[in-house]
Amino acid sequence: MNTAQAALESALSLATLHGEPIAIAIADGSGRCLASSRGGDADWTFETQARALAETSARTRQDSATLRSRRAESRGGTAVPENATVARGTSLLIRQRDGADFAVAARATSADIERACAERAVQMLDHVGTSKGRPASADLRQVMGSFVTGVIVAIAKDPVAQGPVGFTATGLVSLSLEPPLVGLSVGHAASSHPAFVQCTDFTVSVLHSGQSDLAIQLARSGPEKFSGVDLIGTAQGGWRLHDASATFSARTRNTLRTGDHTLIIGEVYEARLLTERPVLLFFGGGRFGKAEPRDTAAVAI
Ligand SMILES: Cc1cc2nc3c(=O)[nH]c(=O)nc-3n(C[C@H](O)[C@H](O)[C@H](O)COP(=O)(O)O)c2cc1C
Repeated sequence: MNTAQAALESALSLATLHGEPIAIAIADGSGRCLASSRGGDADWTFETQARALAETSARTRQDSATLRSRRAESRGGTAVPENATVARGTSLLIRQRDGADFAVAARATSADIERACAERAVQMLDHVGTSKGRPASADLRQVMGSFVTGVIVAIAKDPVAQGPVGFTATGLVSLSLEPPLVGLSVGHAASSHPAFVQCTDFTVSVLHSGQSDLAIQLARSGPEKFSGVDLIGTAQGGWRLHDASATFSARTRNTLRTGDHTLIIGEVYEARLLTERPVLLFFGGGRFGKAEPRDTAAVAI
């Protein structure tokens, strides 16, 4: 289901960008169909028979009763809620390629978003099907290693244990100055992923050059890694590192599932420089360095 998964996530991401609740079902010719809902009353994902879902949907608008009858076939993902609906015939696209069916059915509150999501999904199905020459993960990691980044520790509050969770990251990007927005890329495999997706606030502590050991410690999985780490409570009930080059706090504005990561978009409401020590750098797919200016002249930007 990798092809359908990529198309599904891309379409869901588009709907998320527009803040639109969506339910979408995608078949990629493998015989199975992946259906997912985001942003509505419930988030759910399940797998079912592709052709059955596509044919029913093409003949008539699929009602929730029809979909519910397919719950018995579902496997994996969370349970489909009683009021779940996925497809409607008007937006179903069926394409024939190499003898395989490609089907997309989308349902959103606005017809424009529904159409855009269906088109995005079809583009992705086409793209993924023809992207055999794309780099392997290990190669991409090596090439991306020539793009030098700083290193941060992101911390959020665990919604159940109410304690700090977080991890070492380089996937931080400054997205906007007005309003001040940052994006934090959180891997779906991270144990703190659910907390970051649900949290209202998170903090970012930028590491300095003396903190490479801490970066490695906090790249371990699980909240126990914070034991012995000097944290400071924030006014909003969160935490940041006591020692860091800089720190800021952000309020979650949006989340964007993309590939195997979720981009958490946060609006920065507090930012502070803490020390002038050189910041820690990460490059070469696993090496640390430190940022030191080449000379005293600075570029005016
Ligand atoms: C230098 C470095 C950068 C990293 N960048 C990221 C990142 O941007 N996003 C991410 O999800 N994980 C990143 N990781 C991996 C996480 O730190 C690691 O998966 C961690 O175990 C997740 O913790 P958790 O399972 O407690 O949530 C990075 C690790 C290192 C060492």
